[in-house]
Amino acid sequence: MSPPRCGDERDAMTTPEHVAIIMDGNGRWAKARGLPRVAGHRAGVEALRKTVRAASDLGVGWLTVYAFSSENWSRPKSEVSDLMGLLKLFIRRDLAELHQSGVRVRVIGDRVGLAPDIASLLDEAESLTAENRALNLVIAFNYGGRDEIVRASRRIAEAVARGSLESSAVTAEVFAGFLDTAGIPDPDLVIRTSGEQRMSNFLPWQSAYSELVFLSCYWPDFTQEHFADALRQYAARERRFGGVLPRGVAQGVAS
Ligand code: FPP
Repeated sequence: MSPPRCGDERDAMTTPEHVAIIMDGNGRWAKARGLPRVAGHRAGVEALRKTVRAASDLGVGWLTVYAFSSENWSRPKSEVSDLMGLLKLFIRRDLAELHQSGVRVRVIGDRVGLAPDIASLLDEAESLTAENRALNLVIAFNYGGRDEIVRASRRIAEAVARGSLESSAVTAEVFAGFLDTAGIPDPDLVIRTSGEQRMSNFLPWQSAYSELVFLSCYWPDFTQEHFADALRQYAARERRFGGVLPRGVAQGVAS
């Protein structure tokens, strides 16, 4: 965990440095209102905008959001196209404001096979905001954790075959450097909305020791209050990373 920034209100012991969110429930939110699914995704983008602002207010340094999984291609063509359109709109409309607010945008996931206009927008968002430091926004797009691990393994195998890496030098740390998330701290907290309680191939390597908070609200209804509530739940957790608590504190099974 990096030290708190000067003038920063966050409590470094209890505020997660990195929060990752599975923004689930857009479809059900729309269905409950008799609206098409795309209306749920549009409302989801609005919730995302508010959440980015809230992350800064709440002292979170890194925010990763699961915007489109490598499995989402199996949705009806029209929904896939709606989601692609919303990503483009989000970047086109919000990039200037994100940049002005000091947000650095990074995108994880497989870029190969993405439409050229989307790929170039993602590149533009990353390069324009590369020097920003107020908040790191990581967008998981065409992302799947298993796919990420397979791509990393392939790159490692290629480096070994080239002779630029010894197989005996491949440690967990070296491996992590080949993932899309190289240089990004592991999430301290993963939030999933909509009442579902699973990880759905989201950051399986990186979330090995993350705290998980499941909220019943659908993603479009997620507010700063829900965010603050998740942070309160996180603050009450006891993280041991497989170790034990210091002497004088009740000890339990390492987990
Ligand atoms: C899950 O809801 C949500 C998604 C698959 C996409 C998340 C996308 C957004 C919040 C909007 C797009 C944002 C960007 C930046 C592209 P679901 O459709 O699985 O909902 P359901 O489980 O209720 O059907």
